[in-house]
Amino acid sequence: MLHGSSPLSASTPTYTDPAWQRSMALKLDFNNMMEGAIGHVEGLEAGDVWGLQGRMMDVHRQISERSGRGGEFLGFLDLPYQGQDDLDAIQAAADRLAALGDRHVVLGIGGSYLGARAVIEALKNPYRNDISRQRRKNRPRLFWEGNSIDTDVMHALMGMLPAQRPEGIDDAFTVNVISKSGTTLETAVAFRFMQQRLKQIYGADHAEYVVATTDAQKGTLKGIADAEGYQQFPIPDDVGGRYSVLTAVGLLPAAIAGVNIHELVAGARFMADRCKNPDLHANIAYLYAVLRHLSYKSRRTVSVMASWTKRLEYFTFWYDQLCAESLGKDGQGVIPVATVNTRDLHSRGQQVQEGPRSMVVTNLVLETPDWDVVVPKVEGNADGLDYLAGKHLSEMVLSAMEGTAYAYAREQRPSMNLLIPQLNAFTLGQLIYLFELATVAEGYLMGINPLDQPGVESYKNFMFGNLGRADKAAYKAEFDARPKGSSDFMV
Ligand code: PA5
Repeated sequence: MLHGSSPLSASTPTYTDPAWQRSMALKLDFNNMMEGAIGHVEGLEAGDVWGLQGRMMDVHRQISERSGRGGEFLGFLDLPYQGQDDLDAIQAAADRLAALGDRHVVLGIGGSYLGARAVIEALKNPYRNDISRQRRKNRPRLFWEGNSIDTDVMHALMGMLPAQRPEGIDDAFTVNVISKSGTTLETAVAFRFMQQRLKQIYGADHAEYVVATTDAQKGTLKGIADAEGYQQFPIPDDVGGRYSVLTAVGLLPAAIAGVNIHELVAGARFMADRCKNPDLHANIAYLYAVLRHLSYKSRRTVSVMASWTKRLEYFTFWYDQLCAESLGKDGQGVIPVATVNTRDLHSRGQQVQEGPRSMVVTNLVLETPDWDVVVPKVEGNADGLDYLAGKHLSEMVLSAMEGTAYAYAREQRPSMNLLIPQLNAFTLGQLIYLFELATVAEGYLMGINPLDQPGVESYKNFMFGNLGRADKAAYKAEFDARPKGSSDFMV
């Protein structure tokens, strides 16, 4: 243990205790959105916020009756209430894979990738791939692929994986391939490499080392998994990719890494129960949607999510994707920007403080970190930092956060703080459900379908056409006939 550091959070899981659950409730402090803090030109009036209650009743009806646009994909609302048996089956598969090899490769992109990674990065040691298996409690190191097309990274991964049947657990590896459609090119190509290597080293036994998370009935991956005899987990038909983190898509990798998935789902359930009440004074997800909507309507087209802990960096990426793919439609939609502070105060901070008045900031504030670390006193005080000696790093980050929010406010720049009492599976489950529900609510306030992604098909058509897929030949023809560029515009 680092000298001067001490654990702050209770490590005993107490997530079923209602009093503990209440102590872990997320809170939204939006004072710095309001005219009292940032003036009447830029700030909101209380009547603006509570005045949207009537519209939110309609949004609530569309969500709870699943009658709004894309309502057939609102199955994520049920996930906090999924059966314990389903979770136990995921846990059992995770334990089996964890015992087979110390390297686990997760293949998936977009909604089939970011949620799982966000959960693990938030809850596990940031250097977990570099610490001993024993310190990882016998859970494997994780590698994430199939989330891009990158020849150098694929080459590096293949170079690290064994080419012959490994002797011990250290080199042995397992694969979880995740794709709802079962046809996503990035993931499918990466799986082709992994499958070939697994067959090379394990021969007929290779199926034991693979789990496929995909559609229950259809898709190429489903066909492969059936033919090869891979263990499978279905993604429900009514759950869209970026809303699927609380299915096996996110839960299996999380369980493999040793996250308590029962606690994660319990946290989501706590938030879902809380959000059954449509009253904006009680419903934090609807309130967040309203604040963002009002802000967007006052031409704040950029929404900066600023995490004040590195542990939530991937969570900001997860939200970035959720927001961008859900709300960027019909010529509308706030542009999400993912940041971690204080790191990004040295870049984005300048822009938020003095750039265009098009930004609104959501601070993710971790109130009590797991560990507190005290700045040491050093002899001679050569760095002049003795005024900090004895101070806690958590105190420093809070000072930075409060100072930054005030610096924004005095320049009439809005921000709000989402307060997270501790970072554990329970609070992370709350965060996931909160942002999923808020995104749908915000989409309905905008009048768009937050549950589809027709725009993403466009690049795929031309990519597949260019790569020679027969059924996309028309796209190839259109591409070939496109206006050609001029050398005048190439320097
Ligand atoms: O949210 C979405 O629907 C997308 O981001 C998908 O998750 C992503 O495109 C991956 O799709 P699939 O799981 O079909 O491979």
